[in-house]
Amino acid sequence: QTKLYQETYRPQYHFTTPQNWINDPNGLVYANGVYHLFYQSNPFGNVWGHMTWGHATSKDLLHWQHLPIAITEENGIMAFSGSAVLDVKNTSGFSVNGAQPLVAIYTGHTDTLQTQNLAFSNDKGLTWTKFKGNPVLNYHKKDFRDPNVFWNQHKQQWIMALSFPNEHQVGFFASKNLQQWQQISRFGPLGDTSGVWECPDLMQVPIQGQSGKYKWVLFTSQNATMQYFVGEFDGTHFTNENPATTIFKQDYGTEYYAAVAYHNTPSKQPVAIGWVNNWYYANDIPTTPWKGAMALPRKLSVKKVNNQWQLIQQPIDNIKTLRSALSSFANIMVSNSYELPVKSQVFEMDCIMQPTSGEAGVKIAVGNGHYFTIGYDAATQTLFTDRTNVGTTSFNKNFDSLAICRAKVPLVNGKLQLHIFYDKSIVEIYANDGSVVFTVQLFPDETNNGIELYSNGGTTIFQSEHLWKMNSVW
Ligand code: FRU
Repeated sequence: QTKLYQETYRPQYHFTTPQNWINDPNGLVYANGVYHLFYQSNPFGNVWGHMTWGHATSKDLLHWQHLPIAITEENGIMAFSGSAVLDVKNTSGFSVNGAQPLVAIYTGHTDTLQTQNLAFSNDKGLTWTKFKGNPVLNYHKKDFRDPNVFWNQHKQQWIMALSFPNEHQVGFFASKNLQQWQQISRFGPLGDTSGVWECPDLMQVPIQGQSGKYKWVLFTSQNATMQYFVGEFDGTHFTNENPATTIFKQDYGTEYYAAVAYHNTPSKQPVAIGWVNNWYYANDIPTTPWKGAMALPRKLSVKKVNNQWQLIQQPIDNIKTLRSALSSFANIMVSNSYELPVKSQVFEMDCIMQPTSGEAGVKIAVGNGHYFTIGYDAATQTLFTDRTNVGTTSFNKNFDSLAICRAKVPLVNGKLQLHIFYDKSIVEIYANDGSVVFTVQLFPDETNNGIELYSNGGTTIFQSEHLWKMNSVW
């Protein structure tokens, strides 16, 4: 039997659970120096079902301690996605012996009804009690879910963003005590309405280069992709300031979903975590005894580009602490392909190249005729990923039909920066300082661990490459 965390395809520096199915991150809250990560989990198997809140904590968002289940399925009511807050002023009245309660706001799910519910903990999240007055919000609807709550300093009340999935709307609700809620506005439909809207999150995000200035950012997830809106929130209404006809995609890969953020980090810069999977084939991916992973925590900022607000996502700084052996290369001229003298399936690579013509980029998981392509097409200024030629793909035909991802990435002074995080079955690519991000799953053979620079249709200068093997966090 393979040792835990050493199984085939097992990520080494991304969050996974020892065993069983997980999906959305839930209840991201930073309290008393500890980051709590709850997540949708099935305690009984390696496919979706019996939704329960699993729990882990961390001090650095990289090394995690797995904790007992927080919120259980009960009487056939599953605990669907939601959020958690530290109720500093005990507005809920849930405090025991003067402790500041952690309060989780989650959706209770049955096949015919979704309602909003509370659970609380007075022992730093270790044990949870469901509120006797549940549900606290019931619209008698089948689809009505994923409450995301924060404290609005300005109005001195709690605000909840809640999804009306089929209406493609986010409802905003207000409360003084987390128990009684009143609808104050609705946002949408707007942007991408191709799928049900799920997992809204509204937060203040710093503006790059303008210390102490923020914009309000709203995330929604629709079936298999995510979008964001940027604007203002006056305590009642959210107003989008980006062009209404453009869809602002959060991630251009196929596997980044249901991301929500820690709002109240020490730096006041939100940090988002997303689920690395895709509902079109999530249950079929060939990993065992676990299924599902979290993307690297991403610090968020916004900046104005061509009169539009753009979300900038960068891996949290302390990922650097996981770096081990470094290999550096400079000014490599590539006219066909160039194999780097390093082999790894667990690395970080920062690469600056100067694409001029044709197609050029980096191939990873190279070996035995197999490879994963991260390529740039100079003529159309398009960055793409292609997993057509990677190991196992036959577990679900949708995985194959979503093999190629693309995004426009304009060069900056003729250069393209690719910050690549590869971890066995996950690759995250942050292009040009995090202005475009791709998250993609791949299932290569373990022995296909080569790394190659390539250029088709002309010579490409690869100006600098830094490559670090990464330490496991498990
Ligand atoms: C998003 C989602 C949520 C729901 C949860 C159920 O991936 O569909 O809307 O609460 O998963 O597990």
